[in-house]
Amino acid sequence: MSKISKAFFCQNCGYESTKWLGKCPSCEQWNTFVEEVIDTGKSAQQNSWREPRKGSGHIISLDDVESGEQKRILTRDAELNRVLGGGIVPGSLVLVAGEPGIGKSTLFLQQALQLQNILILYISGEESEQQIRMRADRLKLRNENFYLLTETDTQVIFQEIKKLKPQLVIVDSIQTLQSRYVESTPGSVSQIRACTAELQHFAKSTQTPVFIIGHITKDGSIAGPKILEHIVDTVLQFEGDQHYLYRILRTIKNRFGSTSELGIYEMTGDGLRQVSNPSEMLISEKDEPLSGIAIAASMEGMRPMLIETQALVTHSVYGTPQRTVNGFDLRRLQLLLAVLEKRGGFQFGVKDVFLNIAGGLRVEDPSIDLAIISALLSSYNDQPVPHHYCFAGEVGLSGEIRPVNRIEQRIAEADKLGFEKIFISRVNRKGLDPGKYKIEIVMSGRIDELYRQLF
Ligand code: TYD
Ligand code: MG
Repeated sequence: MSKISKAFFCQNCGYESTKWLGKCPSCEQWNTFVEEVIDTGKSAQQNSWREPRKGSGHIISLDDVESGEQKRILTRDAELNRVLGGGIVPGSLVLVAGEPGIGKSTLFLQQALQLQNILILYISGEESEQQIRMRADRLKLRNENFYLLTETDTQVIFQEIKKLKPQLVIVDSIQTLQSRYVESTPGSVSQIRACTAELQHFAKSTQTPVFIIGHITKDGSIAGPKILEHIVDTVLQFEGDQHYLYRILRTIKNRFGSTSELGIYEMTGDGLRQVSNPSEMLISEKDEPLSGIAIAASMEGMRPMLIETQALVTHSVYGTPQRTVNGFDLRRLQLLLAVLEKRGGFQFGVKDVFLNIAGGLRVEDPSIDLAIISALLSSYNDQPVPHHYCFAGEVGLSGEIRPVNRIEQRIAEADKLGFEKIFISRVNRKGLDPGKYKIEIVMSGRIDELYRQLF
């Protein structure tokens, strides 16, 4: 009789335990442990992809290892190439994570159909062949080297792969795959892990790049691809607000390139379209200046991007003033309000404050502080900030304006888009040549100084 071993897994982070636990010691979530069968006694043939890995089990001098750098596959999409660090690396395992419905299947179907000269296998466990065909028709793309397989059993998948010998494999999605060597249901932690391990083995031993699509939810409550992050080579996150058209493909981890890259897309009626100049689309055109609006010269990844910040400051009708944010960290807003109150003497304590980043974006760049402060003050005073002003600076606890990185790139972008003034920290002055730009560079050291310069 074969021995069956079981274990309990945290469905949130994948933590393994021999007994049930109420609270996960790793991610501190409650009630996330589920018992899963991890070994059905067939462990001798653990991987269904069994071909010896090239060079495995031998010691080799690093100098004798061939560098695979030159052989990257370039896709037709400049954004994707950049996000991957310069094209697809042979044998790499790339996880594409995103919320359901954000457009992962659309993006990768589109990418695959555009890659004309290599053999591609698209494995779908979610959609039927007809559905995929309909989507391809909608994207108005055709590709004779593109093959479909609607299957979820990894053994069958590898049999087909051996026959077809594709040069690129896309799996949509990892949550639907099922390995025969693990007995738990598809989508459970041990299944996701086992299937990814098999795909990794396949990718490394045949030098075929594999893209794995995985769903995550906002709170990460389903067995998510989070647990795969350390297995795969690259993690891309596809994000955006479903109510807006813009989507961002962000590198979270990349063994073959920088993690500060980012691709911007727009969802249209016939698929996703690259956005090569995001600043223009994020700033709304207005005839007359409105109060509470300020433009931040921020950086998204390595790219400068001008983003509109909007604030509304109103008199509070309830005892506790409200603070509501969209696309920005609430605690950061509270901190900035406290700085304005204490260092500038503005009475935000009796005001409701609403803050919004236009376009449904989420911004993490601290340089946006200065624009937010300006938007808040503008709404507080009900005095508009002129259209053609923009801001780049971080605000410190004592009300000082702190320097930000890549200031020249930010200034150049604002200059290119026709802004007339950019407000930055005085500390950023070093090494800056204002004569290079048409835009006027205004430097200030503290928020009260900025206030005098603005109003
Ligand atoms: P999908 O790729 O199925 O999302 P995911 O695989 O991440 O779950 O995309 C879903 C949404 O994209 C769907 O709600 C409709 C929209 N969409 C368009 O707006 N235009 C298009 O051309 C396509 C194919 C989809
Ligand atoms: Mg999908």
